[in-house]
Amino acid sequence: MGVKLITCGLPYANGKAHIGHLRTYIPADVYVRYLRLMGENVLFICGSDCHGTPIVVNAEKEGMHPKELVNIYHEHFKSVFSAVGVEFDYFGRTDSDYHHEMTTQFVKKLVENGYIYSKEIELAYCPKCKRFLPDRYVEGICPYCGAVARGDECDQGCGRYLEPGEIKDPRCKICGTKAEFRKQKHYFFRLTAFREFLLDYLDKLKGTENALNYAKEWVKKELKDWCITRNLEWGVKFPGENLVVYVWVDAPIGYISYTKEACRLKGCDWKAIWIDGISNGKIRWADITHFIGLDIVYHHCIFWPAMLKGADFALPSAIVASGMVKVEGKTFSKSRGYVVWLEDDYLRRGFHPDYLRYYIVNYTSHQKDLNFSWRTLMDKVNNELIANLGNFIYRVLYFTWKNFDGNVWEELDEFNLDREVIDNIAKAKDEITKALKKWEFKVASDTFMELSSFGNNYFQSMEPWELIKKDKVECARVVANCLHIVKALIVLSYPVLPFTMKRVAEYIGMNLDCIKIDSVLELDNIKVVKKPKPPFKKIEEEEVDRVEKVMLERIRRAEEVEKKKEVVKIEDFSRLDIRIGKVLKAEKIEKSKKLIKLEVDTGGEVKQIVAGIADTYSPDELVGKLVVVLVNLKPAKLMGVESQGMLLAVDVGGKAVLLIPERDVPPGSRVK
Ligand code: MSP
Ligand code: ZN
Repeated sequence: MGVKLITCGLPYANGKAHIGHLRTYIPADVYVRYLRLMGENVLFICGSDCHGTPIVVNAEKEGMHPKELVNIYHEHFKSVFSAVGVEFDYFGRTDSDYHHEMTTQFVKKLVENGYIYSKEIELAYCPKCKRFLPDRYVEGICPYCGAVARGDECDQGCGRYLEPGEIKDPRCKICGTKAEFRKQKHYFFRLTAFREFLLDYLDKLKGTENALNYAKEWVKKELKDWCITRNLEWGVKFPGENLVVYVWVDAPIGYISYTKEACRLKGCDWKAIWIDGISNGKIRWADITHFIGLDIVYHHCIFWPAMLKGADFALPSAIVASGMVKVEGKTFSKSRGYVVWLEDDYLRRGFHPDYLRYYIVNYTSHQKDLNFSWRTLMDKVNNELIANLGNFIYRVLYFTWKNFDGNVWEELDEFNLDREVIDNIAKAKDEITKALKKWEFKVASDTFMELSSFGNNYFQSMEPWELIKKDKVECARVVANCLHIVKALIVLSYPVLPFTMKRVAEYIGMNLDCIKIDSVLELDNIKVVKKPKPPFKKIEEEEVDRVEKVMLERIRRAEEVEKKKEVVKIEDFSRLDIRIGKVLKAEKIEKSKKLIKLEVDTGGEVKQIVAGIADTYSPDELVGKLVVVLVNLKPAKLMGVESQGMLLAVDVGGKAVLLIPERDVPPGSRVK
């Protein structure tokens, strides 16, 4: 049987794993587990994406070699994946020798086939750092929309990818110096030569609609040749030059080099997968499915197939793209605090990995955006996993344990499953199989939950707790039916809930290692061999309160950092008319604890100002003082009294301390 290759977008070894990442890895892992259940021969691979300017810039910041930074995050991702049950057959890294070799061969093939040409281009160069400024090393203005943009992407404006040399008004990100343009020879991939091929390929490619539609639109409107070399030390050398290939050239080649490495270790044939393929018509297809997020569709549906075609490789048959993850209703953002870190926020706080797996596949359809909220997690766990699935499984196992010592078969000479039980199990199995063909993980997981609801209703309506008193044989028959539903539930939900179902399977002495989906309809003398415990632990309200608090605090801090980062121009500052004033009169405003009404001479004009300083100053001590006043503030009423300006003060533990000039100056002097 041929091998089905499943891959996941390679995580950048540049930061910690967060919930956004899992939207690629968990559904892929669930898919792989279901495929194996269906008897498919699957190879599941992934690995770190170790190159690119962000890694170099970060390493520089941390005073490390890029390799050291990569080592840290490579190990981090491996351990997080194992903690959430994402089990790759191989997890490689792009800074390994075998990957460099594969990439070099690949690029040479593209050169040989005439898809790479060189051209002199004008590139941003920092005269102070004395170097060219690739991608993230440069900041400037987007030539398309005028927003502030990074060298490789207009991330705050129109979202376009920018080619080297395109950015306007470039500045060096490291030292802030205005960059100049210098000529240098670079290499380009002739993407425009693949327009017809791509239209045909995308027409036949399988996968999620979101990815395919997006890619088709793109090909129809704008294809440009890609500059594929960069001025960096860290990366795969472009043959014969002192340049490295762009990270988006070498990263997807990781899918091939990791397959080759996995095959070397496991004894399969990587060429059969990546070169021979499974059909040899106009398009040579390979049985390869890439799982990615919507943010990297362009690279996988356009650039990557063109590269593969150009270097004579077979082509992936499906691209499955998830929607993006949001956090508490807001766009995911590490810098603004809308993030859930898997280790710190989730695993270390004792939340079970299966809960997150269920949330991610079951919250919404794979193609839609997914909102993560802690409260919804609690609801889904307590009201769905526990109230439905956990409740049924535990009730049946416990009832069997208690009333039959775990063995109902001694009561039964002959046994057949009830028609409706067979029908419901068969229906669940078929629906799950069908749903997976369309990557509808929500439908698949809803389906086993429906089977569980059926089980609960069956148990409830048969009243085995009454039967046991009247007719033990009939009771055994009902329980035997329920045990088969339990077995089916274990098998059908195992890909989503591997940790929990492995444990539950032990209660009935079942081994899930080589289990096949067809076994759900086979008759078994299922016995409860171990005292069962409830499969799931409730999430308590207090746990949710605690994590929510941590999150709010993080968001608040991020806002502060943002504010500090915000720069204003001198023109912005000069719009504020700030002057020295002399207090002429001061009196407390009645009915108010804090407010004092002042008359202040601001040079030629006397202003009435209301200030919240009564905690710190008495009206008497204010008269005659020099103060600092914002005079062109829009007038407002405080406790019914008009205030025509604002005194500048410092807040010390809730009490106002006034700013005063360091020497005697005439009222009306301008602060600038
Ligand atoms: N290194 C590239 C992929 C190279 S593939 C040859 C990359 N890395 S990543 O670390 O940013 O993302 C890894 C995977 O997680 C990708 O599939 C990406 O789409 C997915 N996600 C990362 N953040 C995400 C969200 N906030 N929401 C959904 N998925 C996103 O991209
Ligand atoms: Zn733009």
